[in-house]
Amino acid sequence: MATGKIYDRTTEDVGNIIAMEHVNITVPDQSLATLFYVNGLGLTRDPYIDFGPNNVWINAGNQQFHLPTNKAQVIRGHIGIVLPDLNALDERLYSVEKRLRGTKFSFKRSKGFLSVTCPWGNKIKCYESGKLYTMRLGIPYIEFNVPSGTSKGIARFYKELFNCRTLTRKSSCQITIGRGQNLRFKEVKNNVDYDGHHIAIYVVDFSTPHNYLDDHSLITEESDAHQYRFKTIIDPNTGEKLFDIEHEVRSLHHPMYGRFLVNRNAAQSFRNYQQGLDAFVP
Ligand SMILES: [Fe+2]
Repeated sequence: MATGKIYDRTTEDVGNIIAMEHVNITVPDQSLATLFYVNGLGLTRDPYIDFGPNNVWINAGNQQFHLPTNKAQVIRGHIGIVLPDLNALDERLYSVEKRLRGTKFSFKRSKGFLSVTCPWGNKIKCYESGKLYTMRLGIPYIEFNVPSGTSKGIARFYKELFNCRTLTRKSSCQITIGRGQNLRFKEVKNNVDYDGHHIAIYVVDFSTPHNYLDDHSLITEESDAHQYRFKTIIDPNTGEKLFDIEHEVRSLHHPMYGRFLVNRNAAQSFRNYQQGLDAFVP
């Protein structure tokens, strides 16, 4: 028998959802969106998948924001982002403040993070890498505000359908995803109507959750061979509808699985340019 330190080996178990890859939020103005996400947050416009003026994909480490043009959508809760340097972020946000005046854009430094509101009201909490989060750049979590009394049922949904590790508290739950990511659901009193934003996840076992969702008439789109969608989270114990958030569920055969996403070093500028430091490896 081996001796020495005893490890809790379950902490490194990964359930069926191995990545949350993108969050899709429609925006009414592409130039303002680019100013905020690229110049302000310091993220990178996807150089390969380009939709012209109607949509932009913004790389944040190994995750993305998808921002098609349409009426503004707002996440009910907030998105967590990890960036390499919060002081540099502060400076970049100051630099775009004037041009975003008249929108909902704002930012505020708090202990351990920087709270940012996008021009249309999406709340983003920015953390510096290496402290709470090991990733150097990316989207470690999204926290959704959900109706009172739903968080335990939501945890059961992800546990039963996707075999996720879940952590439940009195009025919230956390769903573990892949390496260093999670979905959080926090009960609040005042709930806002769902406006259609979505998230994309990759799963190892593609068919088992599909069978369950199909049996319960929860599939909203059979997108193609590699992807389906569902929108409503139900309590598997009772069938009660708990919360709407569209999931794009992708198999590991999806052509975009594991795609290399280009990230730039946001510290590079025309004024301080240094050869060889253009890329950022998250
Ligand atoms: Fe999507």
